[in-house]
Amino acid sequence: MNTTLPAKHVFPALQQKIKGHNLIWLDSASTTLKPQPVIDAVYQYYAQCSANVHRSVHTPGEEATAAYEGSRETARQFLHAKSTTEIIFTAGTTDGINLLATSLSRGMLQAGDAILITQLEHHANIVPWQMLRDHHGIELRVAPISDKGDIDLEAFQAMLTPNVKLVAFSALSNAIGTVLPIKEMIQMAHRIGAWTLIDAAQAVATMPMDVQELDCDFLVCSGHKMFGPTGIGILYGRETLLEKLPPARTGGDMIKSVTFEKTTFNDLPAKFEAGTPNIAGAIGLAAAINFLATVPFHDIQKHESALVASAQEKLAEIPGLRFIGTPRQQMAIVSFLIDNVHPHDAGSLFDDDGIAIRAGHHCAQPLMQHFQVPATIRLSFSLYNEENDIIKVVDSMKRIIEVFA
Ligand code: ALA
Repeated sequence: MNTTLPAKHVFPALQQKIKGHNLIWLDSASTTLKPQPVIDAVYQYYAQCSANVHRSVHTPGEEATAAYEGSRETARQFLHAKSTTEIIFTAGTTDGINLLATSLSRGMLQAGDAILITQLEHHANIVPWQMLRDHHGIELRVAPISDKGDIDLEAFQAMLTPNVKLVAFSALSNAIGTVLPIKEMIQMAHRIGAWTLIDAAQAVATMPMDVQELDCDFLVCSGHKMFGPTGIGILYGRETLLEKLPPARTGGDMIKSVTFEKTTFNDLPAKFEAGTPNIAGAIGLAAAINFLATVPFHDIQKHESALVASAQEKLAEIPGLRFIGTPRQQMAIVSFLIDNVHPHDAGSLFDDDGIAIRAGHHCAQPLMQHFQVPATIRLSFSLYNEENDIIKVVDSMKRIIEVFA
């Protein structure tokens, strides 16, 4: 095992027993476990300070503001954004996409404009755009994928006609682990002048995201998929674009002045953060980013790739097992089905052995429709998993198959 990886005891959740077994967490694509420094950071905010931000001249209020805005700077460095004005705190990836969709619907897109997504997307990157289609006459296009689960770049290119104004796609499929060629896709979109949105929810804990190097216009991610708290996320936006976009939500903090006749909106990033924000969440997210910074991405990828390869090799020997998605580049996630065993039954039986996997459509029903399956069994790996987890999965699977034989 690589020595830069954190010790398992840093994740208190791994010390619990599930039905008499040590917990094996293979559901990190759903949410990662939280390391002690993140838990401590959230605890300390509530225990020691807990004041609101941007409003108070008292010392606790100033400390809370400094911690919250300091977290924004940490997030800026993490995504390599130019300025903290480009970092909007959201409730998570889904919230960030909805915020952007709402803002774009307020005069930034016109009927007849098109949005292009891919068949690999999570519902969070489908449904907000369907709302724009159904209520604002925006066309929604979907670039197809191959039977292996790779994006069809030729078809993607063909769909990039001049009326496409936004191209929104995932960096890493949460359901089958496909790594998309996002840099190439961004360049293709920019050639026709479209904006680009990267759904980095699944990617941020596994691969570095440098918004300047990628040259994307928007990027969204969630704290809870990168060892941080739930209910916090980031919407990155290129400053020149965020300046043009109207607010999506209104209320306190996003204003400069209000009369009954007129409101003047605040500067970035406050313009997009109405109301009391998730202060503890932002502080916890910064702690998660600092935690993640202790392990080079190269080591995380090497570790997760070895686990994916080992899982594929060992699972392939199980009679009746079929992989769903075998893309060219696959990271952190393996999805499969077993003959005569419903994924949900398998999920419950894995739980009897203390193994947490996800069984279901993984919030990607159109992707399941592409593979003509209702659901899959998904193993998703993170830096606290080890080879022994896969051996236990295979043993457990043999027992499950016997139950249904
Ligand atoms: N999107 C999360 C998952 O993939 C919930 O499980």
